[in-house]
Amino acid sequence: MTDPVIHDIDNGIAWVRFNRPEKRNCMNPALNRQMMDVLRELEFREDVGVLVLSGEGTAWSAGMDLKEYFRETEVQGLGAVRKAQSESYGWWRKLRWYQKPTIAMVNGWCFGGGYGPLFACDLAFAADEAQFGLSEINWGILPGGGATKVVADLLSMRDAMYHALTGEMIDGRKAAEWKLVNESVPLAQLRDRVTEVARVLLQKNPVALKATKDAVRRVQEMTYDNAEDYLVRAQEAANFYDDGGRKEGIRQFIDEKTYKPGLGAYDK
Ligand code: ACO
Repeated sequence: MTDPVIHDIDNGIAWVRFNRPEKRNCMNPALNRQMMDVLRELEFREDVGVLVLSGEGTAWSAGMDLKEYFRETEVQGLGAVRKAQSESYGWWRKLRWYQKPTIAMVNGWCFGGGYGPLFACDLAFAADEAQFGLSEINWGILPGGGATKVVADLLSMRDAMYHALTGEMIDGRKAAEWKLVNESVPLAQLRDRVTEVARVLLQKNPVALKATKDAVRRVQEMTYDNAEDYLVRAQEAANFYDDGGRKEGIRQFIDEKTYKPGLGAYDK
């Protein structure tokens, strides 16, 4: 059987790909299990600084596998349904709080359940040609698996409501306009643009990257005072693992005058 997830590592970037192109990379239980294994294997590797998630073929991911994830699991009963849910939600959660910064490189179709991993990635870049849709309404369910929460959090209420109620697709450009992704570029330029952004991240202090990405997600649910307190504690906790990085950052600017923090990163 072909692996439903493949990956390679190139100059600090782990390129992880959904690999069921003949099924438009829809997520079946086997894919969900293997994705968790791959994420675990890559998370603390020294040669991985950034993880990029993309898809083989014409799709990023056509959402959940309607046959294997829904129909064939439901006939096995509630236990099987809950197991399949925990396998998919599990790797999306791991990705949301991943040790390394993550980028969704949306090369094609992205439907329904695909919004879970899309949101889980810290940054998202789409091809202009990509198509996004909450197609759940088209086959008679609500956008579950977090998809409704994703659009309610990222889009305006009107756009989220329209997207979820009509099931109409939007292309990469519209997805960028709606802030579902950071940017959209022609498919031919997508990998280069993502590589460029990944290289920027690779220059940063990795402890600070992890602290920052978690902070951006966590503070959204906090009052200002709670966020202020959390950020002090998060920085102090980061100092514990940082190996003097921030002091070095200050030293190279103030004493050595070898860089300017406003213009770029210090030399790690
Ligand atoms: N679940 C199960 N099988 C799927 C899925 C899916 N989500 N998406 C595609 N496939 C299968 C097709 O059944 C087909 O299988 P077959 O070759 O054995 O007949 C194969 O993948 C290729 O699909 P086509 O429809 O022939 O590909 P095409 O490029 O013409 O269309 C498209 C692509 C638009 C993505 C279409 O496949 C589609 O609409 N897929 C379903 C998208 C969707 O609504 N996903 C569910 C969202 S809701 C949720 O995730 C909870």
